[in-house]
Amino acid sequence: MKPAIIFGTRPEIIKLSPVVRAFLKLGIRPLLVHTGQHYDYEMSKVFIYELELPEIDYHLEVGSGTQAEQTGKAMIKIERVLMEEKPDVTMVQGDTNTVLAGALASVKLKIPVAHIEAGLRSFDRTMPEEINRVLTDHASEVLFPPTDEARKNLEREGITENVYVVGNTVVDAVLENSKIAERKSNILKLLGIRRKGYVLVTAHRSENTDRRRNLERLVEILESLPLPVVYPLHPRTRKRLKEFGLWERLKSLKNLILIEPLGYLDFLKLEKNAFAVLTDSGGIQEEAVVLGVPCLTLRYNTERPETLKVGANVLVGLEKDRVLMYIEKLLNEKEFYKRMANAPNPFGDGRAGERIAKILVELYESGRLKVRSSRFI
Ligand code: UD1
Ligand code: UDP
Repeated sequence: MKPAIIFGTRPEIIKLSPVVRAFLKLGIRPLLVHTGQHYDYEMSKVFIYELELPEIDYHLEVGSGTQAEQTGKAMIKIERVLMEEKPDVTMVQGDTNTVLAGALASVKLKIPVAHIEAGLRSFDRTMPEEINRVLTDHASEVLFPPTDEARKNLEREGITENVYVVGNTVVDAVLENSKIAERKSNILKLLGIRRKGYVLVTAHRSENTDRRRNLERLVEILESLPLPVVYPLHPRTRKRLKEFGLWERLKSLKNLILIEPLGYLDFLKLEKNAFAVLTDSGGIQEEAVVLGVPCLTLRYNTERPETLKVGANVLVGLEKDRVLMYIEKLLNEKEFYKRMANAPNPFGDGRAGERIAKILVELYESGRLKVRSSRFI
């Protein structure tokens, strides 16, 4: 069997690493195709190195651009690779432009697509990621929703066949790497911070960074936090802060440690030892519940409602008062802190990668890994 894995951004490399490993364990070396949507060392290569992935077979160097430029360029280059390599299945993970490009290029060549982390919905079609999720799910032959909630979203849209709830590979990655991180990373010492003595912040969503007023509201939130703040800055946000004249204001904040994006091991260590995380990241909402760290999400909706239901996460949007109210509550009410930190992990047991590889091999061996003319037969 010849599987291909297409990826291009930081979270895809992290969340696909358990799948690569699971295939290798079965004696199958998947073809690795990197679109180059992320290209800075600290957004890409550092993860390939830290997660000990095999050599990338194709670097497509798509880079940045408008939504259509990036997706279109990726499609054209992925199609060439798929025509040359003729894999039996193409795997994509999540909701980026790379994912949509990979799914469309593949299915049109009649190469079946397996979508990992299928069925997530924010029900907000103004997000580029929501469009990517819906279209990729409908182009895919095999779907791997992480939870039953995600499976139900697929069912509501008529997708009921070849759907396997397997858990989220984020758990595999966290379990595989957090002990290594604890041992190897000395980031707390390096930054001069104490365990549980700081808030870890990340923000990069277009809705929070592309409009000046929204980015300013984020800066105002950071200015008001009563604890030290550590903020590894996504390149998109750095660019916008400079463009909108907010860079100097943020840099001058006394309680803020503003740093480059971190490698996975350093980031996991910072995350696990944080008092709380304040984020608009999808993956970090998931990791926080696995690591037992309260999460405040800088959004008004989430495609990870499981984290809200179990009580690990709250939506605070860009509402400074709401953020402060929750931070104060976490600081002053021990029981509340414990409840958030000890919320059960809804994303599975850390064996999602193994299940995905096994299911795809079984489908292949029984001749069922094919693009069918109708899903509904
Ligand atoms: C993308 C995904 C988002 C995901 C995020 C993970 C889409 C639509 N968005 O958002 O879902 O959560 O990746 O981090 O696919 N840049 C650099 N260096 C890099 C990469 C990007 O400087 O290595 C800058 C460029 O100015 C670029 C901007 O960041 O224009 C945005 O990059 P892009 O890949 O388009 O979107 P992300 O915000 O990273
Ligand atoms: N991450 C990292 N270094 C950082 C910030 C994040 O390694 O400086 C990891 C984090 O542990 C998580 C993933 O990157 O696994 C989340 O990526 P991001 O927030 O960029 O994307 P999203 O999950 O929102 O798509």
